[in-house]
Amino acid sequence: MNRPVTIQDVLKALDEITGGRLVKGPDDLGGNNPFVVTKSSGIPGKAVTELPGLVWGETGATVTKAAVMMTLTESAIELAAATGVNCLIAHHPVADGTSSGGVPIAHYMNLYGLNVIELHEALHGLHPGIAWLHGHRAVEVDIRCGGLAGNILYVGEALPEVQTLGDLLSRLRRLMDMEREEAFLEEERSFRGCDDLFEAATAAAPTIVLGTPDDRVGKILHIFPHTGFSPEHLECVFRGHPDADTVLATISHVPPGHALIEKARELGLRLVCGNSHALEILENGLPLARALAMMLPELEIRIFRERMVSYPLDAVGSESVQRYGSDIASRYLVKERALSR
Ligand SMILES: [Fe+2]
Ligand SMILES: [Fe+2]
Repeated sequence: MNRPVTIQDVLKALDEITGGRLVKGPDDLGGNNPFVVTKSSGIPGKAVTELPGLVWGETGATVTKAAVMMTLTESAIELAAATGVNCLIAHHPVADGTSSGGVPIAHYMNLYGLNVIELHEALHGLHPGIAWLHGHRAVEVDIRCGGLAGNILYVGEALPEVQTLGDLLSRLRRLMDMEREEAFLEEERSFRGCDDLFEAATAAAPTIVLGTPDDRVGKILHIFPHTGFSPEHLECVFRGHPDADTVLATISHVPPGHALIEKARELGLRLVCGNSHALEILENGLPLARALAMMLPELEIRIFRERMVSYPLDAVGSESVQRYGSDIASRYLVKERALSR
């Protein structure tokens, strides 16, 4: 392609990658496109409808640089504008006023001339990568486990090189570059003189919940607890696969005390938590960015990777900004009445 890459070229490439799942016109919004889905917890005014494709911008706009990210945030918008990126491709659905730092998308994107594309459910299920990263080959996939839309289950067979739970975890650690992430966190702790720092990808590191590193792994029930997978679902799935030995929970983890742990124990299954959501940028974002780079080789593609860090209140920022925080809080925000309570 000799002419500059346009937003339309990016959309066309994404449509090819997804086998035609992008929104093409008004008909897609009337129930014709199964990837136009509304996500709602029933909270009034808080539902969001996924629109795979262009959310904001001009199809004819020339792309300077594109960035693939998981979630659009105000930091992503500022990073894009400051570094010459004008095409933002977010995996998670974009919500007006939320993904755009509390103001309407129209105001913020127009200020910087940004174009926003989203691609969530329309990307899911296109590749077997997440199973592969976790050391198995999915031989069965149910995207409506227990009749619940989006409740995904993979039934997988461990790859020959993954004989034990220890093999599975060390494979993941290697692929996710966890050693470097942990070392970087240690550097940050020592640089800031604060040991009480946490970072999402390393804090929610893969772990064995039930079992030992030497336990053999053969048949894996790979679940995603945040999609609604329940102990009843596990019982039902195990009935159909009594030779399964391991439950693997990824994207989200099974928290301590959760009923799924008891159910897995009762069924004699091992339970492993794999990659957390903080690593989906490598699981799904990286292959998507690579696919785009292959289809549009003249386009510069960046990865926007979040790094969420937890600081104690007293450890964040400079001394002077700490004084600012306390001063503003005591002078304007906290009434004396509240303190004497
Ligand atoms: Fe995803
Ligand atoms: Fe996600």
